[in-house]
Amino acid sequence: MTAVTTIDLSLPKMRSGKVREVFDLGDLLLLVATDRVSAFDVVMPNGIPDKGKILNQLSLHWFGLFGDLSSHHVVTADDSEIATQLGAAYDERLRGRSMIVAKCQPVLIESVARAYLSGSLYKEYLAAGGAERDVTLHGIGLPAGVPLCGKLPKTMFTPATKAQEGHDENISFDHAAQIVGREIAEQCREATLAIFERAVGICHNAGIILADTKFEFGIRTGELILIDEILTPDSSRFWPQDAYRPGRAQDSLDKQFIRDYLETLDWDKTAPGPELPDNIVAETRSRYIDIFRRITGSHPNL
Ligand SMILES: Nc1ncnc2c1ncn2[C@@H]1O[C@H](COP(=O)(O)OP(=O)(O)OP(=O)(O)O)[C@@H](O)[C@H]1O
Ligand SMILES: [Mg+2]
Repeated sequence: MTAVTTIDLSLPKMRSGKVREVFDLGDLLLLVATDRVSAFDVVMPNGIPDKGKILNQLSLHWFGLFGDLSSHHVVTADDSEIATQLGAAYDERLRGRSMIVAKCQPVLIESVARAYLSGSLYKEYLAAGGAERDVTLHGIGLPAGVPLCGKLPKTMFTPATKAQEGHDENISFDHAAQIVGREIAEQCREATLAIFERAVGICHNAGIILADTKFEFGIRTGELILIDEILTPDSSRFWPQDAYRPGRAQDSLDKQFIRDYLETLDWDKTAPGPELPDNIVAETRSRYIDIFRRITGSHPNL
């Protein structure tokens, strides 16, 4: 089994992310999920075979569930249709890991929903004195004493800037409205919270806590639509429900095994990352398959 970590096609490449490659097809884009994996924000030299297929198919599964809440950008993820569209540029390695989407004008914020307090928001909460007193972060009031990974009193929409490089920054709703316009910001918030709530219920039934997630929206012919990937472990925090304990970091369903391994090494968490051994790769691969099966009830097409 080999991991697909690079893909070059005879098509113009619009962007190469940590995991995905985006090719320009004119009015459309080809999004390709590779098997690359990052930990501590560093892309590892070797990938996890089939990870890109699993995440691509998970995202597609979710897109199909929210049609009543938001339109989405997918035009086709059918491999023979993609092969036909791409003609001589098609490559067998695209199979199962690609989608052709409508090219949109991206809305320049990240739409984040959070039901639990962790990551960057927890850091800001502590820095603001949340351990001792009620605090207001980005215009949102939070009660004192919420522990790390504690449940928030209610699900929050916490938009962030969309940095091309480096880290996105949390911003207030009003700041988001200044960037994208109030009407669009309100539409993003409404769709984000509605989709998130439904996804939380589906994950709960699968024994998974969906702690938070990030959506991206775009505008196509005046309509707000969901773009990018949705509700994958790369854009969301999935925690195993049975091991949940507030007050400490939670195991991540997908990457914990890699992180734990990396912590045993004398590695300073800057690029280049160390080669992952076969057993870590195999275990991580089976975790991605497990997440897919638990959420969708079926096996990914590998
Ligand atoms: N329909 C669309 N129209 C226009 N842009 C899109 C569309 N769908 C996705 N994109 C953009 O494609 C890019 C996907 O690449 P991105 O850099 O996020 O890859 P990634 O592998 O997820 O990397 P990272 O971990 O850095 O997020 C994003 O900038 C996203 O905004
Ligand atoms: Mg991304």
